[in-house]
Amino acid sequence: MIPASFQIRDLTIRPAAVLAPMAGVTDTLFRRVIRGLGGCGLLMTEFTSSEGITRSAAKTLRYLYFQEHEHPITAQLFGANPAVMAEAATMVENLGYDAVDINLGCPAKKVVKCGGSGLLRDLPLLEQIFRSVRAAVKIPLTIKLRAGWDEKSIVAVDVAKLAESVGVEAVAVHPRTRVQGYAGAADWSIIAAVKQAVKLPVIGNGDINRPEDAARMFSETGCDAVMIGRAAATNPWIFRQMEEFAESGRYTTPTETDRHRLLMDYYQQIYAANLPDGVGKMKQFACWFTHSVGNGSELRRIVHAARTPGEILSSVEGFFEGRAGAVRAPEMAGPTPVGASRSEDLAHGPSQHLGYEATLGT
Ligand SMILES: Cc1cc2nc3c(=O)[nH]c(=O)nc-3n(C[C@H](O)[C@H](O)[C@H](O)COP(=O)(O)O)c2cc1C
Repeated sequence: MIPASFQIRDLTIRPAAVLAPMAGVTDTLFRRVIRGLGGCGLLMTEFTSSEGITRSAAKTLRYLYFQEHEHPITAQLFGANPAVMAEAATMVENLGYDAVDINLGCPAKKVVKCGGSGLLRDLPLLEQIFRSVRAAVKIPLTIKLRAGWDEKSIVAVDVAKLAESVGVEAVAVHPRTRVQGYAGAADWSIIAAVKQAVKLPVIGNGDINRPEDAARMFSETGCDAVMIGRAAATNPWIFRQMEEFAESGRYTTPTETDRHRLLMDYYQQIYAANLPDGVGKMKQFACWFTHSVGNGSELRRIVHAARTPGEILSSVEGFFEGRAGAVRAPEMAGPTPVGASRSEDLAHGPSQHLGYEATLGT
């Protein structure tokens, strides 16, 4: 079943469930929604450019902002320059993160040239990066990888062994190749093979949509923890459901009122933060989240037709009004004049999301 905890060296993660890093999704606001609902042991940031944060202090704040109650939390970095990755990891450590993670999975063309899954084709460089980052920080160092570049070069086991030999302390495996993107099914046998090959904690990832899937991944692969991505955006309650499932073999499904409340609370947070890309974020979340709301296509239509965060809030409120169990909108105080720097703190520029964005289906 789902273990109550797992260890990354001296860091205890309770329960053994991790929110996957998702560019454009897992910013501080979304992470706090997940933490608030319970059941998620470890949060992760979106992937963050080591080059970007080491060149600009404003970018560091913007991409690595988090709040105290997000602990335990890992910052994920990407990059291909060992010295720059080490410098960025030191910044992550100094900001108080519990662990630092290296992205070896991003399929985006722009990222592949300078890190991400591109590094799976250059193991000597990868070793240099691991060694350089390991020497720079004391906090746990983890990696998240895809299975390999293509089906002819499945390197997950080799990379995990290499990582273990140089002091990396956990490995998350998304068993699809770079060429596969998000097509087909994740091949969980690769997670099992990695688990067999190393003593490191192995975090299994890919295609967990329900608590039953998580239980099956544990039993089929022997992994130490599971990591959940897309299902957390369509059903942010999934972590809590997994916890309930582990305790009783059953779990509760959110009601329409729960969904209404969560959507309004989350949108209100985005509105109050006055993000430059607030409308985009709201629309994107609607793509994921509204599929399990009754008449969700109409809800998506009205969200996409709106032009400002305020308009989105009132149209969503209008949508739910009159439906059974509708909740009142949170008080609309208007966007907090948090100032350019503060809103920048929370926002991500579109260039960060390339490649991952393409996976956002409506
Ligand atoms: C919109 C989106 C953004 C993503 N961004 C990242 C990222 O920043 N870093 C990363 O390692 N993986 C990223 N991924 C991959 C996920 O972390 C995860 O490995 C993948 O979605 C498979 O897990 P799932 O089936 O639970 O979604 C992203 C995936 C999606 C859909």
